[in-house]
Amino acid sequence: MGRVISLVSGKGGVGKTTITANLGIALAKRGMNVCLIDADIAMANLSLLLNMQNSPITLHDVLLGEASIDDALYDGPSGIKFIPSGLSLENYRRVDPERLQAIIESIKPRFDFILLDCAAGIERTVMAAISASDEVLLIAMPSSPSIADVLKAKITAQRLGSKPLGVILNFYRQEKGEIKKEDVMKLLELPVIVTVPFDDEMRKSFMQENLAPVMITKPNTPAAVAVQVAAAKLAGLPVQVEQAQGSGFLSGFFGRLFGFLRGKPRAQAGVGNEQ
Ligand SMILES: Nc1ncnc2c1ncn2[C@@H]1O[C@H](COP(=O)(O)OP(=O)(O)OP(=O)(O)O)[C@@H](O)[C@H]1O
Ligand SMILES: [Mg+2]
Repeated sequence: MGRVISLVSGKGGVGKTTITANLGIALAKRGMNVCLIDADIAMANLSLLLNMQNSPITLHDVLLGEASIDDALYDGPSGIKFIPSGLSLENYRRVDPERLQAIIESIKPRFDFILLDCAAGIERTVMAAISASDEVLLIAMPSSPSIADVLKAKITAQRLGSKPLGVILNFYRQEKGEIKKEDVMKLLELPVIVTVPFDDEMRKSFMQENLAPVMITKPNTPAAVAVQVAAAKLAGLPVQVEQAQGSGFLSGFFGRLFGFLRGKPRAQAGVGNEQ
């Protein structure tokens, strides 16, 4: 039976969609059966990043009772399955997000992981996604407003019976004025699963001419390395980092030696630093 995990943040623009896509692909590359759901029912972005925006039947149709879940389940990159959300605001207004729970229950046995990319805020679609999830991954930036919002998201998850797994601290630069990882853990009483550094490759991956998750195009850029660490931790697997040339995975002594010799900023990406 698969684990259903919502990625939530409260605050917008902290990297939920980017991390959902990359984490899903990282899990798939480690042999997991993964389904990604664009649960941002009003402002669907995940299909853009996955380059699957032309999928004709979407979660909207399923939530409206006009299509079956299998009609909206597409093959995505690296073996993932993907359920896109629709772009119509009219349909968004008509859908019943409460149906999400039953829909997810029906596909749960087929996957190891079902990841839900949630909207910002804690409005009705986010609550429905959290209620349909077993666990919640909190995505935050190391700033006071983001940590305050993620605390609200954590409390909401607990109220709805979904277990907060920990925090992915994105846009981590270790700059003066940033909230430190240790303080985030104390404030939220949760582990920081990984810190994801600010990475220009990650930023560019969401730009018009280059829409593709870095886990596909640049798997050894620091942000992608951090996501692979998070994937390994979630799946309870040893940390392995894919090399850019597609030459497979390196781990253990050779992985460390290789990373050291190439000067790859593994520590910068939070490898082995987190609780
Ligand atoms: N670690 C990173 N380094 C650099 N840019 C990043 C990083 N993570 C995300 N970004 C960029 O930040 C922007 C916002 O990311 P994203 O859309 O994933 O956030 P979100 O939380 O899903 O936003 P929303 O709340 O609007 O749904 C994107 O342009 C993305 O490429
Ligand atoms: Mg988003």
